[in-house]
Amino acid sequence: MDAAALPRADETRVAVIGLGYVGLPLAVGFGRRLPTLGFDINRARIAELREHRDHTLEVSSEELKATPRLTFSADAADLARCNVFIVTVPTPIDAAKRPDLAPLKSASLTVGNAIRRGGVVVFESTVYPGATEEVCVPIIERASGLRFNVDFHAGYSPERINPGDKQHRLETITKVTSGSTPAAADFVDALYRQIITAGTHKASSIRVAEAAKVIENTQRDLNIALINELALIFHRLGLDTSEVLAAAGTKWNFLPFKPGLVGGHCIGVDPYYLTHKAQQIGYHPEVILSGRRINDGMGEHIAQRVIKLMIQRRIHTAGAHILVLGLAFKENCPDLRNTRVVDVVREFRSYHANVDVHDPWVSADEARQEYGLDLASELVPGKYDAVILAVAHRQFIELGADRIRALGKPGCVVFDVKQALPRDKVDDRL
Ligand SMILES: NC(=O)c1ccc[n+]([C@@H]2O[C@H](COP(=O)([O-])OP(=O)(O)OC[C@H]3O[C@@H](n4cnc5c(N)ncnc54)[C@H](O)[C@@H]3O)[C@@H](O)[C@H]2O)c1
Repeated sequence: MDAAALPRADETRVAVIGLGYVGLPLAVGFGRRLPTLGFDINRARIAELREHRDHTLEVSSEELKATPRLTFSADAADLARCNVFIVTVPTPIDAAKRPDLAPLKSASLTVGNAIRRGGVVVFESTVYPGATEEVCVPIIERASGLRFNVDFHAGYSPERINPGDKQHRLETITKVTSGSTPAAADFVDALYRQIITAGTHKASSIRVAEAAKVIENTQRDLNIALINELALIFHRLGLDTSEVLAAAGTKWNFLPFKPGLVGGHCIGVDPYYLTHKAQQIGYHPEVILSGRRINDGMGEHIAQRVIKLMIQRRIHTAGAHILVLGLAFKENCPDLRNTRVVDVVREFRSYHANVDVHDPWVSADEARQEYGLDLASELVPGKYDAVILAVAHRQFIELGADRIRALGKPGCVVFDVKQALPRDKVDDRL
């Protein structure tokens, strides 16, 4: 039997499923050109978007108001009027660091219940090679009763958004596209070319596109892991890592990575999707997982260095007051997901220190909900035995090294995780 025709350009009605950091900018991008429905199971999220508010700060209220072809709904029945479904739900890991595909499976079921003959589903969520066709497509087939590549088609186009980055936006980043047949690949590619001014790269298959996405973040994770390992070595050698990197960086092909905490829900998470799949097929990755272990240990290492400095100054850690500046997983953004600053806090608390965390970007409710942390809303000068600059938010840089030190008692320890303050103004840095 002939495959169903793909939607014509003038009859394309897009649904974006999952309106987070990735889904909302995408829905706005499509909503400027095509009738688009933004769908999310979180009713509070739909309510705020209908009021033109985006708490992730990725899209402004003006942009939301200026996108009249974009509507929002938490009612899955509304998806029935769409014929292209783009899935942008989270792909986290569980406590044992295995892929948690629950949101992806649930979104696939939602699509399966809504898709009609001729429909197309495109996944953007980061997964391992094979997940779209092995996990998602069978769920859609079962729920819809439609046949894959006959009645409906699939594609995969990984997101490359960088939260908080106002320069590299959806439209200005080349987008990898793919499809389950050559015709589906052409359709998906043409769809994205309507909104991506930087152009597209059509991969030869869905699996190639899935693999490309997951290695982008794995490569970054490993590069940072190498620099973190160098920082551990240089600390033992009494060398300042930033000074060594500045010297080495004068060579044209030395890559400019810095040591630090690797958080967020991409770089520290996605490699586990790849290693999971590798293990499933009997290959046990060594380099990727050892890099992960080094990066996951950096929070404890930072706290240990601060504690050593405190002890050298005869400051008791038990009962000490420690201030951690920044909780977000990176600077100038409110994203708390998988922030590794919590490892620093946890290590200090294991020594019975009193830790205050201050972050002007993140929501206090979210910090309490996600990590049980009550954020300090005010900074009290002269209170602390140690001050740690954990995230280089604009506000902290503007505050400057002297005023940061003045938050502590005379003789306090100031530690700069981000190498953002002058070396001679801090006691140590990563
Ligand atoms: N944020 C990034 O920087 C980034 C970059 C590249 C790729 N990605 C990938 O994109 C995907 C989405 O990430 P994000 O940052 O946008 O996540 P997010 O947590 O910001 O948003 C996900 C949204 O999906 C909704 N959702 C969850 N399950 C749903 C379901 N079954 N049906 C409908 N809505 C559902 C949630 O309510 C939430 O609003 C992930 O796979 C991630 O790895 C993220």
